[in-house]
Amino acid sequence: MRTTAIIVAAGRGTRAGGALPKQWQDLRGAPVIAHTIRAFAGHVDDIVLVLHGDDLHRAATLGLRAVAGGDTRDASVQAGLAALAADPPDYVLIHDAARPLVSADLIARVKGALATHTGAAPALPVTDALWTGTDDLVTGTQDRAGLYRAQTPQGFHYGAILAAHAAFAGQAADDVAVARAAGLDVAIVAGDADNLKITQPDDFARAAKLMGRDMDIRTGNGFDVHRFGDGDHVMLCGVAIPHSRGLQGHSDADVGLHTITDAIYGALARGDIGQHFPPSDPQWKACESHVFLRHAVELAANMGFTITHIDCTLICEFPKIGPHADAMRARVADITGLDPDRISVKATTSERLGFTGRGEGIAAMATATLVKS
Ligand code: CTP
Ligand code: MG
Repeated sequence: MRTTAIIVAAGRGTRAGGALPKQWQDLRGAPVIAHTIRAFAGHVDDIVLVLHGDDLHRAATLGLRAVAGGDTRDASVQAGLAALAADPPDYVLIHDAARPLVSADLIARVKGALATHTGAAPALPVTDALWTGTDDLVTGTQDRAGLYRAQTPQGFHYGAILAAHAAFAGQAADDVAVARAAGLDVAIVAGDADNLKITQPDDFARAAKLMGRDMDIRTGNGFDVHRFGDGDHVMLCGVAIPHSRGLQGHSDADVGLHTITDAIYGALARGDIGQHFPPSDPQWKACESHVFLRHAVELAANMGFTITHIDCTLICEFPKIGPHADAMRARVADITGLDPDRISVKATTSERLGFTGRGEGIAAMATATLVKS
């Protein structure tokens, strides 16, 4: 069954405050809506965004189809449904952009229930006692039996919810209200207490805390040595530096890039550079080392990790690294796609002691930090 997610994000987030509508505000380094989109990626066949007319220009940065919403949530949902009419999916999952913590399991539960129901939506039974009140005074109590707190995504057979919205007049609390008005059956699936809707200013901190709880933060280290031989330059962190000697090695002997590559493999617990690119294999002879680093970066992305920081120390008496350090950072940034501010390249001598001190070769060590959230 082909399923499209409609992510509604055309509201102005007045209750949440801030300089931007809540779905565009930062949550742990990315806009709220980017987290919401990521939560659906891979779990639906297609995603359409419903944005405020003023925000349509932002769609390009998200790389998804977007249509303009309306003044009410209903109108925004209708705009999303209409956008799918030319190539209708079997199911739609209608979701608030303001719920970035929706889990894959919850999405699966809603989709699963659509095999036997025209509609399905997550909800949590009310567990707190309920009161009525006026002006901070309790005026009565309310039986909570049979009451639920509704969440999204709310899933429907596409044709049925399209017709239900077309026939609906007035204001609806959500799409389940619209479906019920049209007589559709809507199954309740288990909601998730973490699937909160960012509504008030302090919900950002709550959402950030919940996200951080599942963060997988890893640190990997790398170490490498190459021996000096004949030559007129050395390759260090992707930059050719003129020198009276060259570095020996099967590839271009870039000891800096090799050690950074190994640090990333280390954080992923996926072996080392020699395992992925055996020196015995002639195809890596004279290979430029950015090929190795790009492989490690891609492996990290495929495993769901973001590289957040790289720190590399080159150990040699000569050549002097300082004048080239910024060029090296820029080159490593270019290869990895990281911001240069997240890359450190520094150097030390070994006080003329040992093989680096005697000028027999260059050693390098690196640390890489990777995060999956
Ligand atoms: N929404 C929408 N179009 C509207 C109103 C709301 O697409 N005209 C979306 C919001 O962007 C949000 C979801 O519906 O993702 C749930 O609405 P709500 O939490 O009420 O968000 P806002 O309307 O933006 O916030 P507020 O009511 O505080 O202004
Ligand atoms: Mg609203």
